[in-house]
Amino acid sequence: MVRFEAWLLKGLLGLMWALPIWMSSLTPQFCTSLETLKDQLNLTLRRRYLKHNFPINYTIEVRYEEVFRLNNISKLMNDSADVRDLQDLWVRITETDIKRILEVLPERHPTRRKYLANLDSLFAIVQQSYQSQNSDERDYPESIENIWVRLGDRDYQGWKSVRPKSLLDTCYRTMHCLFKECFLRNGSQYDYCNIQHWRQAKGTQG
Ligand SMILES: *[C@@H]1O[C@H](CO)[C@@H](O)[C@H](O)[C@H]1NC(C)=O
Ligand SMILES: *[C@@H]1O[C@H](CO)[C@@H](O)[C@H](O)[C@H]1NC(C)=O
Ligand SMILES: *[C@@H]1O[C@H](CO)[C@@H](O)[C@H](O)[C@H]1NC(C)=O
Ligand SMILES: *[C@@H]1O[C@H](CO)[C@@H](O)[C@H](O)[C@H]1NC(C)=O
Ligand SMILES: *[C@@H]1O[C@H](CO)[C@@H](O)[C@H](O)[C@H]1NC(C)=O
Repeated sequence: MVRFEAWLLKGLLGLMWALPIWMSSLTPQFCTSLETLKDQLNLTLRRRYLKHNFPINYTIEVRYEEVFRLNNISKLMNDSADVRDLQDLWVRITETDIKRILEVLPERHPTRRKYLANLDSLFAIVQQSYQSQNSDERDYPESIENIWVRLGDRDYQGWKSVRPKSLLDTCYRTMHCLFKECFLRNGSQYDYCNIQHWRQAKGTQG
């Protein structure tokens, strides 16, 4: 009997190993908060508030690491990062990106009042929900650890100019890729991590 139980346990553990890497433990509450954020990040709103409301070709200065694209995900996955590492990174970088745009906006700018202030609050809810389920201390692989260090570096050199919309366009895409469990509906199997998906969807989802 004991042996059988041990065998069963081993089998179960083996099974857990075999679960696909994407099956993390995002809670329904988290997904709901992310869904709300997603709706506010739709292309219509991004265009209106992050492009049309700014001077043409307006850019802001960010750290290189504050630009987090689909390419970065595949590169880091290949460099021993797992999904959870990248989710942590996404949460941190998105927070910074929203703040970067807020920093350049005067108090009364319509993008701040009608859009970003609200987006910032919605993101705070996402962040809280994320942290309440992922509060364990983790060791990151070196590739990720280096990024954390550079994100916090006070003497950072060599900033990059980016358009505000482009910053949140990339957040939007990487969000779909890294939290795809929250966005898969009716058995839809979009490959959100594939840049090709977004090229095809251009104009409707961006
Ligand atoms: C984006 O959201 C706004 C406000 O909820 C809505 O009016 C608009 O139709 C949405 N656009 C798309 C492309 O879904
Ligand atoms: C904006 O940038 C594009 C290419 O990046 C350039 O072709 C265009 O002339 C610029 N427009 C203005 C008003 O600077
Ligand atoms: C993403 O890739 C670009 C270009 O290689 C790099 O400059 C940037 O630091 C990377 N961002 C992250 C978060 O790894
Ligand atoms: C993946 O990693 C290997 C070695 O770590 C490297 O040779 C290869 O070029 C990498 N591929 C990509 C797409 O980054
Ligand atoms: C997907 O599910 C939603 C409800 O969750 C439903 O309203 C919608 O019609 C479904 N779409 C398709 C293509 O089945």
